[in-house]
Amino acid sequence: MTTFPSFGAETSGSEVAAAFSEQVRGKHVLVVGVSPGSLGEHMAEAIASHKPELLLLASRSLEKINTVISQIRTKEASKNVEIRAINLDLSSLESVRTAAQEINSLTPKLDVVINNAAINVPDRQLTKDGLEMHFATNHIGLFLLTNLLLPKIEEAAKATEKKGATRIVNVTSAGHRLSPIRFSDYNFERTELPVDERPPPGLPLSIVHPDKPYSSFLGYAQSKTANILFSVSLTEKLKGKGIVSYSVHPGSIWTGLSRNLDEEGQSMIKQTSKVWKNGDQGAATALVAALDPSLDEPQGAYMSDCQLAQAAEFAIDGKVAERLWHLSEKLVGQDFIL
Ligand SMILES: NC(=O)c1ccc[n+]([C@@H]2O[C@H](COP(=O)([O-])OP(=O)(O)OC[C@H]3O[C@@H](n4cnc5c(N)ncnc54)[C@H](OP(=O)(O)O)[C@@H]3O)[C@@H](O)[C@H]2O)c1
Repeated sequence: MTTFPSFGAETSGSEVAAAFSEQVRGKHVLVVGVSPGSLGEHMAEAIASHKPELLLLASRSLEKINTVISQIRTKEASKNVEIRAINLDLSSLESVRTAAQEINSLTPKLDVVINNAAINVPDRQLTKDGLEMHFATNHIGLFLLTNLLLPKIEEAAKATEKKGATRIVNVTSAGHRLSPIRFSDYNFERTELPVDERPPPGLPLSIVHPDKPYSSFLGYAQSKTANILFSVSLTEKLKGKGIVSYSVHPGSIWTGLSRNLDEEGQSMIKQTSKVWKNGDQGAATALVAALDPSLDEPQGAYMSDCQLAQAAEFAIDGKVAERLWHLSEKLVGQDFIL
C-alpha cells in the first residue's frame, strides 16, 4: 500500500518530494543517469528541494551533470545542498568500478539509490567487455555498481530504525513486456530460442523478424526486464537487513531517450502511449518508490503511475531472478553473496 492512493499519472515529482519531505531530510541519495531534460534531472531537482544531507549525481557526462547542478542552485530551497558529480560510464565495467570507488569515498552511507540511467540505440552494438549495449548499460553496469555500493547501503539501513526505509529503485519500462531474458542468447546472435526466452506472440515484423535476431525494441526490453528481476533479487536477499528494492515504469515522457532512433523508430515510440507526461510527472513514481514510508512489500514490487502494479510474469519470477543474478555475476567476473 502507498500512503496516497490519490497519486497517479498526473502527480509530479515535486509534489511527491514535498509530501515525503521528512523522508528526504538528512538523507544521502544517489541518482544515476542525470542530464538536462532527463528524468534524472527532475528527480535530482525534487530531492534537492527538501534538504538531503548529500546528493550524489552519477552519469557519463560531467558537463551535463554540472549543468543540472547549476540549475538546482538557482532555487532558494536547494542552493546550499551538498551535491557531488561522479563520472560513470555504465557500458564499461572498468568505469563502473572506478566510479563505485569514488562514490564509496564520498559518503559513509547511502539511504536511497535510484538507478535511472539507460540508453536506447538502433543498431546492435557490443561494449568493449563484449556485451550487447542495452544489456550492458541498462542492467549489467547497474548490477555491478549497486553491488559495489552495498556496504554503504547497508550502513544506512543499520542507522535507521524503520526497516525497509533504505531503498534501491530500478527505473524500468512497461516496454519490458516485449522480451524475457534471453539466457541462451543475451547478445542477440540467434533467431531460434527456447520457448521461455521468446518474445510474446503477435508482435510486428519491425520488432520480431524471423531472419533478424536483433531489434532495438527487443534489446531495450530485455534490459528493462532485467531491471525488474534485479529488484526482485535485491529485495529477496536484503529485506532481512531492512533494504527493499522497487522497480518503476515512469510513464511516457519525451526525453532524450529515443534521440538515437531513426524516424520509424521514433514514430513507433510515439504510438506506444496516449498519455504523455512532462518531466516532473515522469520523476514521480521513482520518488514514491524511494521515499513513501507506507510501502512495505516484502517481495519488493513493480510500480507505475505512483502505485503498485503488475509486471509481466517472466519479470517477477524468483527463480528467473536468481538465474539472472548468477549470469550477471559471471559477466562482471565477481560473485556477490548477500
Ligand atoms: N522517457 C520515457 O518515456 C521512458 C519510458 C519508460 C522508461 N524510461 C526509463 O526512464 C529512465 C530515464 O530515461 P530518460 O527518459 O530520462 O532518458 P534520457 O533523457 O536519455 O536520460 C538517461 C540518462 O542516462 C544517462 N546514460 C546513458 N548512458 C549512460 C552510460 N553508459 N553511463 C552512465 N549514464 C548513462 C544519460 O546520459 P547522456 O545524456 O549522456 O546520454 C542520461 O543522463 C531510463 O531507465 C528509461 O529506460 C523512460
